[in-house]
Amino acid sequence: MIEVLVTGGAGFIGSNFVRHALAAHADWRVTTLDKLTYAGRADTLHDVLDDPRHTFIRGDVGDQSLVEPLLARSQIVVHFAAETHVDRSISGALQFVQTDVIGTAVLLEAARNARRLQRFIQISTDEVYGSVATGASRETDELKPRNPYSASKTAADRLAYSYFATYGVPVIIVRPSNNYGPYQYPEKVIPLFVTNAIDEKALPLYGDGQNVRDWLHVSDHCRALDLLIARGDIGEVYNVGGGNDVRNIDLTRRILALLDRPESLIAPTPDRPGHDRRYCLDSTKIQALGWRPDMPFERGLEDTVTWYRENEWWWRPIKDGDASFRAYYDAHYARPR
Ligand code: NAD
Ligand code: TYD
Repeated sequence: MIEVLVTGGAGFIGSNFVRHALAAHADWRVTTLDKLTYAGRADTLHDVLDDPRHTFIRGDVGDQSLVEPLLARSQIVVHFAAETHVDRSISGALQFVQTDVIGTAVLLEAARNARRLQRFIQISTDEVYGSVATGASRETDELKPRNPYSASKTAADRLAYSYFATYGVPVIIVRPSNNYGPYQYPEKVIPLFVTNAIDEKALPLYGDGQNVRDWLHVSDHCRALDLLIARGDIGEVYNVGGGNDVRNIDLTRRILALLDRPESLIAPTPDRPGHDRRYCLDSTKIQALGWRPDMPFERGLEDTVTWYRENEWWWRPIKDGDASFRAYYDAHYARPR
């Protein structure tokens, strides 16, 4: 059996990856390590918690005595755990430095002495390139992060690279674009807008709504990770973009149309400080290995809307029942920016 450690596996992409990994690899034994912050919930792994090939451990990636034995027995590490919401990084940057930078450093230190380790997959982000006015970012482009989240992720990305270059840790760095799909925490734009629209509440669209994101379905991302674990070159960086460049205003209108809700629900909202205008990835490097995104954006968005309609059991306790979400929402969206 191949021992796989997934950090942040109770979050959005991590939980989709755990599910994908157990289904696709009968010879993998998966350990999820997750702190269960506000963004992680054991519920999200409801259908795999009892799988005999899956173990869930609640803990912090920054806890050295916990991660050392986990790394020592792992052949593959996929490191998703992070603080991930840009808006929260603007109102409280230090937790992002703590988890995304220091937490990654602790894991990498443990990886130095992990004799069985064959792959350490560092999940980075397209946001490390900063805002790109034209064209598409390539892996060799300069990194120009512009908010505390992307700056912390850039530090982790380069730290991971340094552990390859200096100590030979078998690191591969992955820079995916904006993911969407089931189990995404409803602070991120697609699940926030879908669930608000279901409830006929306002959709707080920042600024002029012209910002562009490149949307990647989480299932395409999971397939890309599989490929990179099997065939990616150690020490290399790979962009993984969905090839779906969409303006926020167009995304918002599509969500409203899919839910048969009026455009009068769009609520222009003061812009995010330092809001990156556009992200766009050149993914030719991973495409040369044989990966292509399979999910057309129209279908992926429709499936995602359907998933949120059919799975209120998952998101309604967060939006309606979790006092900390309510407090965040009220403070964040009421605040003039
Ligand atoms: P998420 O916020 O949904 O989940 C993060 C998970 O990490 C949660 O389960 C949380 O409990 C856990 N976690 C946080 N701090 C931890 C700690 N100290 N120790 C252990 N677990 C901890 O995030 P996501 O959207 O699934 O993102 C996963 C990764 O992918 C992140 O590294 C993120 O930077 C990266 N990424 C995300 C996107 C996107 O669109 N969502 C795009 C590109 C890259
Ligand atoms: P988000 O989901 O926070 O992802 P990221 O900032 O990491 O790309 O936001 C996606 C886009 O949607 C981004 O341009 C900001 C915008 N947005 C809004 O217009 N309103 C909102 O309430 C949120 C959360 C995001």
